[in-house]
Amino acid sequence: MSDAPLIIVSNRGPAQFERDADGNRTVRRGGGGLVTALSGLVSHRDALWIASAMTDEDIVVSEEEGGPVSLDIDGISYRVMLVESDPRAYDRFYNVIANPILWFIQHYLWDLSNAPDIRQEELDAWDQGYQQVNSDIAAAVVRQIEGQREPLVMLHDYHLYTAPGMIRAARPDAFLHFFVHIPWSQPDSWRVLPKRIREALYEGMLANDIIGFHTHSYTLNFLRCCDELLEGAEVDYVAGEIVYKGHRTLTRAYPLGIDAERLRRASASKEVAEAEREVLERRRRYLIIRVDRADLSKNVLRGFTAFDTFLTQHPEFREQVTFIAHLQPSRQDVPEYAEYRERIEALVAVVNHRHGTTDWMPIDLRIYENFADAVARYKHYDLLMVNAIFDGMNLVAKEAPAVNTRDGVLMLSENTGSHQELEDWVITVNPFDIQEQSDAIYRALTMEPEKKAELAQGLREIIFSRNPGDWVDDQLADIEEARAART
Ligand code: G6P
Repeated sequence: MSDAPLIIVSNRGPAQFERDADGNRTVRRGGGGLVTALSGLVSHRDALWIASAMTDEDIVVSEEEGGPVSLDIDGISYRVMLVESDPRAYDRFYNVIANPILWFIQHYLWDLSNAPDIRQEELDAWDQGYQQVNSDIAAAVVRQIEGQREPLVMLHDYHLYTAPGMIRAARPDAFLHFFVHIPWSQPDSWRVLPKRIREALYEGMLANDIIGFHTHSYTLNFLRCCDELLEGAEVDYVAGEIVYKGHRTLTRAYPLGIDAERLRRASASKEVAEAEREVLERRRRYLIIRVDRADLSKNVLRGFTAFDTFLTQHPEFREQVTFIAHLQPSRQDVPEYAEYRERIEALVAVVNHRHGTTDWMPIDLRIYENFADAVARYKHYDLLMVNAIFDGMNLVAKEAPAVNTRDGVLMLSENTGSHQELEDWVITVNPFDIQEQSDAIYRALTMEPEKKAELAQGLREIIFSRNPGDWVDDQLADIEEARAART
């Protein structure tokens, strides 16, 4: 492997620059699983991270620097190259195509009798938005690898499906590696897209040399999609390979782990201790938590309905249990997300009105972003609710048990990537089955201490056994092998 830094590429970078009310520049860590994964990667390897300039201040910084920016966030050093796109193109890319269209396809969120409508607006958003931003990113990558022989480029996630084809056209010698952080859905879900868009997307992806997914079933879905949706693609299911127009692409599963030791250290910090004080003051006998981006795929509404059902069916638990829902605001310029947030707030009001008393509010809804507060809640839950409709991995299911101090129980949706690793140590739920989720709350809160300790220990053993360094190393080992085979 050469000494050149790894080139990693994603839409969201590790941080956003903003201006506060006094006009001072601020830096905020990026949210979501991808940033967590790649931050883990950067802390294990020398890397240059190429990402979109997402805020106005990101654009100012990218213009000022004219090259990579060095940043230190939460003890990790980053070198980030911010790529600016035309704001109109970026808006269409992010708010029309990537979220919602692609995100909704890959999490089965479309209610197909109602949406989506593919009109001229969406077609233009593809041509002049998604393709444009992919081309801006691809051009930045090509500039960055100039002069390197057989450079390695690692691209990430659904924002960048067509960039690999563009990079390949400029640099046939490059080794292109792609990791998909979200589920890969079954072939028919992709039929929402017009054929030419679908084909452009799959052709872009098949310019990669290796494509990684969190689980084997996403890998299989991808192979099936290539088989059914792209004429001329030859799929070998046993080898996990696709040959298209003479180019071979290998698919593999690499489940992502978390940096549990780091999180444990963070959980001992002063900020977390301060945040814990509030949690402890407010807790009743039992505490249920969820920590998620305010995203439709997370299934927040059914989670609250399950809690509502639980309080109705087990009135002895009233005033004994509080449910803190810590949701990070997300994609608020996408109408579906803004509406979802309103529905969450309305449902919380209904449940609190139905069961609450003068000094007890059953659901404590907090919509904001704060790492220390999230970790403080992780430490003290009796039940962690992760009931996602579909979720690529779900890192909260790994982070929270790593620092929980109460042998808290994990309720985990069978449709999350992490379920494949953790299923023996959780209460499994079907995300659509509200009664089952209500029963799971009851089971968790009445579980024998020995059983809880056994489950919590089982979780910790798995969670501490693998970190993002292993995830990267597994991928790099396969890259080495594939490169050797090439020569
Ligand atoms: C998920 C996706 C990431 C994305 C993150 C946050 O984890 O896999 O690609 O960055 O959500 O979403 P956002 O739209 O805020 O980047």
